Amino acid sequence: MLTLTNTFAADVLDGLNRPPSLPKQLQPKYFYDALGSTLFERICCLPEYYPTRTELQILADNACEIARAIGPYADILEFGAGSLTKVGHILEGLQAIGRPLSYTPIDISGKHLFRAARALMATYPDLEICPRVEDYMAIEKLPKPSQHPIGLFFGSTIGNLEPRESVALLRRAATLLRGGGLLIGVDLVKRPDLLHAAYNDQEGLTAQFNINLLRRINRELKGTFDLNAFSHYAYYNPARQRIEMHLVSREDQVAEVCSTSIELREGETIHTESSHKFTVAGFQELAADSGFNPKKVWIDRAQLFSLHWLETAV
Ligand code: AVJ
Repeated sequence: MLTLTNTFAADVLDGLNRPPSLPKQLQPKYFYDALGSTLFERICCLPEYYPTRTELQILADNACEIARAIGPYADILEFGAGSLTKVGHILEGLQAIGRPLSYTPIDISGKHLFRAARALMATYPDLEICPRVEDYMAIEKLPKPSQHPIGLFFGSTIGNLEPRESVALLRRAATLLRGGGLLIGVDLVKRPDLLHAAYNDQEGLTAQFNINLLRRINRELKGTFDLNAFSHYAYYNPARQRIEMHLVSREDQVAEVCSTSIELREGETIHTESSHKFTVAGFQELAADSGFNPKKVWIDRAQLFSLHWLETAV
């Protein structure tokens, strides 16, 4: 726990303790404390936030075909598993194919993960469920060797990474999952107004989710941020095919974090998240460059979201 906190402190200072000429930034993985995870779950139910329900619909509509692609006797690992709402369709589909040997959900939000894992154990008493509290970016090897390792990476979480980082992550996944494959959800490039609405919801939940990062810094790192002195700002950057979320300083201000003074000018922003969007061909190219064979892709009717089945080279 101590090391996790230290990393948080080091990462926050590294991202904020910069001269005004350098953009300030925080890593989106730190959104997910208890309140952040709850806020994210509420975002997933918003009418404007299409990714979650669309991906679930794709999973439900294609459960049999997806299960056939995965095949029997899989050791399933889910990266950034959250509240485990999506794996159900996979497990149902696999009933007819051959049950998986194990299911390992991995997430950095521990309490959340264990609560969800307990519920799943009640539904699938015969399945070996082994939750792990870990940053999936740091996984070096499988928890146990497997003949048929299958990765699940839902929600377009990969979109949070910079293109170079996503290639690096996929390369490591391709090595880790040799002999198996990766089922990955990827958000699609679409009309900017739909993207804008999804990250600027009417209820203001996305704004709260964004601001909660400063609340967390105040609580865990002796921060003194005035939450009212920042505004949520999210916009689509078409040249980079990504939503950028920022916190805009409403005034010149100085805050303390871990006894370090952080100065912000009026209008200066802290970049808190990028959410990259892909074309199908663009993502398949990325996957192929990373050591995967793109085998199959499922898309909803409105072409909002895609689910890719990638096999590792044997
Ligand atoms: C969980 C990273 C996929 O980028 O859409 C939702 C997080 N941020 N609203 C996304 C998020 C703002 C989400 N991911």
